Amino acid sequence: MIQENRNTQFTDVCGLILAAGKGTRMQSDSPKVLQPLLETPMLWYVYQALDAVLLKESISTVVGYRQEMVQEEFAGQSSGFIVQAEQLGTGHALKCSLEDLFQHGCPWCLVVNGDVPLIKQGPLQELIRETKRRQAALGFLTLELDQPAGYGRVLRGDDGRVVSILEEKDLTQAQQDMNIQEVNSGIYCLDLAKIQPYVDALTNANQQGEYYITQLVDLLAQDGEYVLAVQGGADHNFLGVNSPRELVHSEEILRREIVEHWLENGVVMHNPDQVRIAPTVRIEPGTRITGPVEILGQSCLKTGARLDSYLWIKDSWLGPGAWIRNFSHLEQVTVGQNCRVGPYARLRPEAELKPESRAGNFVEIKKAVLDKGCKVNHLSYVGDAYLGEEVNVGAGTITCNYDGQKKHKTVVGKQAFIGSNTALVAPVQVGQRSLIGAGTVVTKDVPDETLAVARARQKHLPLRENTE
Ligand code: UD1
Ligand code: CA
Repeated sequence: MIQENRNTQFTDVCGLILAAGKGTRMQSDSPKVLQPLLETPMLWYVYQALDAVLLKESISTVVGYRQEMVQEEFAGQSSGFIVQAEQLGTGHALKCSLEDLFQHGCPWCLVVNGDVPLIKQGPLQELIRETKRRQAALGFLTLELDQPAGYGRVLRGDDGRVVSILEEKDLTQAQQDMNIQEVNSGIYCLDLAKIQPYVDALTNANQQGEYYITQLVDLLAQDGEYVLAVQGGADHNFLGVNSPRELVHSEEILRREIVEHWLENGVVMHNPDQVRIAPTVRIEPGTRITGPVEILGQSCLKTGARLDSYLWIKDSWLGPGAWIRNFSHLEQVTVGQNCRVGPYARLRPEAELKPESRAGNFVEIKKAVLDKGCKVNHLSYVGDAYLGEEVNVGAGTITCNYDGQKKHKTVVGKQAFIGSNTALVAPVQVGQRSLIGAGTVVTKDVPDETLAVARARQKHLPLRENTE
């Protein structure tokens, strides 16, 4: 969705995303960079920002903890993955990558922690421009935080020059008492030739026993190399995500950004505080949405679509004028022009509603086509089926599509009328304009224009024996 202008792409800067860590503080088995914000993995957002600034083929990703999961999720997103088999720290991650980075033939490298999903292209461009302009060996983005806990603190000398980044766990009492609020965002621009000799000099003599990328700052400054801190102010764009609390905090910031974006682009949103829209969703102007609602994945809303409250929609295409009424659940479905769905409908993968068709309350549809003007209005299950144009399905109709081993198909010809409480035992076909009597169990194909009834005939028996 949110596309800033894409005019500044740097061809002389390669990219490196650090994504090998487990993310211990998340207390989850999956790698931290796969943790979702608006059902979209954290790393996706980082790629979005980097893709806007660098050439895709020059971006590498360092992976380690459960690296196969990350590689599978993001195959094709970057030029390649660099495996850091043991996660010995951010400096070690850089060391493992250096050889690969030189292969791109770029003098500079933008290094980004994989856990900063709020990052946008603007600050990245600014960092690269300033690092080059000032000919710094290393530039990095900083931010001012009232509560800097957890971040590396930026230590400046008397002349204002950066001399060190102090990791929180390594702070001495005196350093803590300094109450430094300027912190390291974990986003760096490196002059590769200048920093190369220092990468081998990194040590792990610190509280965490890790090789810190931030030690480069100390080493460079000690040698009189210029280190530049580009101040991002109090901007939340650089917040790292380390814990469940930080994850939902960042997610909420993203959620609001996306809602604001659509409000500014012709979408009427009622109760916007309870609208969750994934960044991958596309929405045309002239749509109306009422929260609470979740719209996720690759969903697309065409103009005039109307979404009432209490909906969950994923990977679905909603055509012009489609109206999805309250409490419906849609996944991987296509809803055509002017269709009406719900309230309380469940459309499962590969349900396809052609224009003007309807799936009403307590109706479940799976892998089935409802052709133009078809109506399934109440209490029905339609699975593995094709219902022709203007077919009318009565309440309580079930396609019996599963025999315990295999799924079978039901085909209903156009303008057929299926009476209430019909069981269509698949595989079975009903001809066009045929009529199925209510309560029928259809086990044989029904020809065109035929009335089919299969149920016990109603009998009337006396209640008591006549004894006279
Ligand atoms: C890091 C910075 C800190 C900064 C903060 C900003 C260091 C030493 N500290 O701390 O100054 O304020 O980010 O959010 O860099 N990673 C690897 N391999 C490793 C270790 C980590 O790829 O061996 C990756 C992680 O997956 C993560 C990123 O590097 O995406 C940062 O690691 P993390 O442990 O979160 O660093 P912080 O403690 O947050
Ligand atoms: Ca972090």
